[in-house]
Amino acid sequence: MNGSGRLEVMCVAGARPNFVKLAPIVAALDDHPACEAVILHTGQHYDAQMSSVFFDELGIRNPDLSLDIGSGSHAVQTAKVMIRMDEVIDARRPDVVLVVGDVNSTVAAALVAKKRSIPVVHVEAGLRSFDETMPEEINRLITDRLSDVLYTTEAEAEANLRREGIDPLRIVFVGNVMIDSLLRCLPRAKPFEKTMREAGASDSFLARSRSGYAVTTLHRPSNVDDPSTLGPLFHALAEISTELPIVFPAHPRTQRLVAQSAVRDIIEGRDVLLTQPMGYLAMIGLMRSARLVMTDSGGMQEETTGLGVPCLTLRTSTERPITIIHGTNTLVGVKPEPVVSAARDILATGGKAGRIPPLWDGKAAKRIVADLAIRFQ
Ligand code: UD1
Repeated sequence: MNGSGRLEVMCVAGARPNFVKLAPIVAALDDHPACEAVILHTGQHYDAQMSSVFFDELGIRNPDLSLDIGSGSHAVQTAKVMIRMDEVIDARRPDVVLVVGDVNSTVAAALVAKKRSIPVVHVEAGLRSFDETMPEEINRLITDRLSDVLYTTEAEAEANLRREGIDPLRIVFVGNVMIDSLLRCLPRAKPFEKTMREAGASDSFLARSRSGYAVTTLHRPSNVDDPSTLGPLFHALAEISTELPIVFPAHPRTQRLVAQSAVRDIIEGRDVLLTQPMGYLAMIGLMRSARLVMTDSGGMQEETTGLGVPCLTLRTSTERPITIIHGTNTLVGVKPEPVVSAARDILATGGKAGRIPPLWDGKAAKRIVADLAIRFQ
């Protein structure tokens, strides 16, 4: 407990998807009379379009603590968070450290807190792609093993954790904080035409988009670090763009490869609008009105299910099976032919209708905070 007798929860966030999850949790902690949030930003993402726009648009107050770790290899990022977080924990001694998602900042913060005997709680626990070549899978496994309380978004996550020997009393199914943010912000979503115009869309692109468009994002190292994978995916996009214009907000990692290789030529002159990363309100506005989303993002698989918009996941595995079982998601891999034929199928049939998964109702953060307050008081 801090001086005021409230439970001090240090909420750690470092990368773009973390900020979307952080917003409703901090709001729910701020609303609870027995709790207090301390926001720690590790600085893993630091560009305005990757970080501060999310704080502004989601109404998250300025971080109380910043570690400013910046970019680097996985080892460097993880080590820098650990070294700087250790100092912060010494100075602050929170009652609980709360981590979200599966990025390098998540696992680093969990390790430090656990070694300092501060209870760790993990939001979005138990997701497994069963692909240990994915850096996030390693982060998930370690973070969950260290966590004292594990808040899950879907039933399969609990099954995974039980299989790994986690005490069921420490697992709580709360729903999805990503959907809390989505539902809260949808009324303020930016109209797609405004976003496209600001991104430099031509009049003809805009005119075609009024009868339907697709949104795509790619940023997984396995998809974007090697032109021999990204090239075929760009060929698929070029093909699909003959039927449907495509907006493609590109992560800095993706932009780097596009700038350095010949893959750019594949979409040159096509109706593929390659843009800077989008803010949150622009992105949810684009997705809401899209006929189709093609992505390798975990968060967008969930958001499209929340919005009822068909999604093709350009990966060979997903850690979010509920988006396929209940939602609008289809796993299509990274080979161009299945991607193009799945996109055509959605254009012809409208795609999977989907249902909203259990507890994806906008109240997940409130459930987490209610549980924290009881558990740690
Ligand atoms: C990280 C997460 C990934 C998540 C993604 C969301 C890990 C292992 N990966 O991947 O799970 O889906 O965030 O975006 O933690 N860069 C900038 N500006 C920034 C941040 C990064 O230009 O604000 C560039 C840097 O050159 C950096 C590269 O993007 O090297 C990759 O950033 P990094 O944080 O290492 O991983 P992401 O690919 O963003």
